Amino acid sequence: MEKLINDQFNKELYSVNLYLSMSSYFKSRDLDGFAHFFRIQAKEENMHAMKQFDYIHQVDGVIAMQEVAAPPNTFESIKQVFELSLTHERLVTKSIYNIVEQALNDKDFATHAFFQWFITEQVEEEATVKTLIKKIEMIGDNSSSLYLLNDELLKRPSVVPDVELK
Ligand SMILES: [Fe+2]
Ligand SMILES: [Fe+2]
Repeated sequence: MEKLINDQFNKELYSVNLYLSMSSYFKSRDLDGFAHFFRIQAKEENMHAMKQFDYIHQVDGVIAMQEVAAPPNTFESIKQVFELSLTHERLVTKSIYNIVEQALNDKDFATHAFFQWFITEQVEEEATVKTLIKKIEMIGDNSSSLYLLNDELLKRPSVVPDVELK
């Protein structure tokens, strides 16, 4: 179980890298709203990682830092960025389901309970990305609609609390 949670921690750190890369893609195209959206995503992923970091310590486990894979640094289109994000989130969801299933099998009820928060979070994240993919499909080649969405995304508040050491 400790290995599974350590691997999940590594996936959250990869998610930070992936979303910073996506944020950078938009920043270099002057789509500041999209860049802001993914910058906040990266911050949320860091919060996920730190929750798991703290949990491993709370149950007297050991954090084994691993190499974090490099994300793609080039993307084909705005839509492709969001599709990649959805594919990635679905993989993360599967990984969390696997941990929860294993926790039940092992009668590790603490880990089972801890990961319930992540199950709900994954539903929200996937729903957000799916909605944005639909909006981008509706926009098509209409640049004024694209800038309206960009402005909307610029207003996304950061709801991530500062992560404090437990
Ligand atoms: Fe996450
Ligand atoms: Fe995520």
